[in-house]
Amino acid sequence: HPLKSHHTFGLNASCNEITTVESLDGLLKTLNELENQSYMFIGEGSNTVFVDDYAGTIIVNHLKGISLFEDADFYHLNVASGENWHEFVVYCTERGIHGFENLALIPGTVGAAPIQNIGAYGIEVETFIHSVEFLDVATNMLGYFNKKECQFAYRDSVFKKDRQGERIILAVNFAIPKHNITVASYGPLLQLNEPTPLDIFNTVVKTRKEKLPDPQIMGNAGSFFKNPVIALHHYLRIQNDYPDIPCYPAESGNVKVPAAWLIDTLGFKGKQLGGIKCHDKQALVLVNLSQGSGRDLLTLAREIKSAVAESFDIMLDNEVRLIGRDGFVSL
Ligand code: EPU
Repeated sequence: HPLKSHHTFGLNASCNEITTVESLDGLLKTLNELENQSYMFIGEGSNTVFVDDYAGTIIVNHLKGISLFEDADFYHLNVASGENWHEFVVYCTERGIHGFENLALIPGTVGAAPIQNIGAYGIEVETFIHSVEFLDVATNMLGYFNKKECQFAYRDSVFKKDRQGERIILAVNFAIPKHNITVASYGPLLQLNEPTPLDIFNTVVKTRKEKLPDPQIMGNAGSFFKNPVIALHHYLRIQNDYPDIPCYPAESGNVKVPAAWLIDTLGFKGKQLGGIKCHDKQALVLVNLSQGSGRDLLTLAREIKSAVAESFDIMLDNEVRLIGRDGFVSL
């Protein structure tokens, strides 16, 4: 079964079986039938890259439904994990529920959002997450994590750290304050004068369309690496040789540096290997020009990783999930 249309990177990979689930009952039935065979649960495949044929079953999430209720101070939303993220942002924006405009146009499902704590233009999804509902496949029990238990951090959560893949997210509960303040402190939003939520939405959509390649046209999975967090003394050491290196504040007095800058500075922007290329407009995005192969992708990504390690003494960590024959692949 071809996987090309099930991941936005669009590499030619296949798997033993593909099945779609539309309800919890359907999911339980599918898992039961699979017994001890390998499987992987995916949403829209926008952060997953199949670098090889996968020797198992792919379960595609089609769990749908949004319910909304409000009290004096908050909008409460229970959203099924298979809902499309951007459509959910539009749903909120149209109803005057504001806060997620900064996260407009991020590809993928609502259920994928908490796993890596998606973020853009000054907001991370954790800001408005109340709790996450999941199925624990080891025990077949339904589970529930409040925000604290989700252990959110930059592009990270308990769902990535602990028993990876064993908790299938079914729904996300959001609590969005009615009197929310707009966040316009990042990059292109800084130029706006007292922006309305709709201004933020429009600016984010425009910026993303300009800089990030449309996966429908050119296969990609957004940022390929995370922005590394390094110690301040390490940053200052690099700054001696590269006075222009940008940085953002991070936790515990550390700093976060843009991986795009490190990769760009080493001259990788526009570099091509077979059908895989380091994007011309954003060095952090690797793209599939059309017939790219998983092997070329891994080779180019490893080349970038070792060049960054050698020049800056920084180990890049991939942001995308790479899947090979037997499951997760590391760089
Ligand atoms: N830069 C370069 N060369 C480039 C691109 C950027 O030197 O080709 C430098 C510039 O100094 C720029 C800085 O890197 O100011 C930051 O670039 P940008 O604002 O494009 O953001 P980013 O750090 O590369 C992160 C997220 C994106 C998110 C944007 C906007 C990560 C891994 N990526 O990218 O998220 O959209 O900020 O908030 O944190 C994603 O996760 O898939 C993703 C696209």
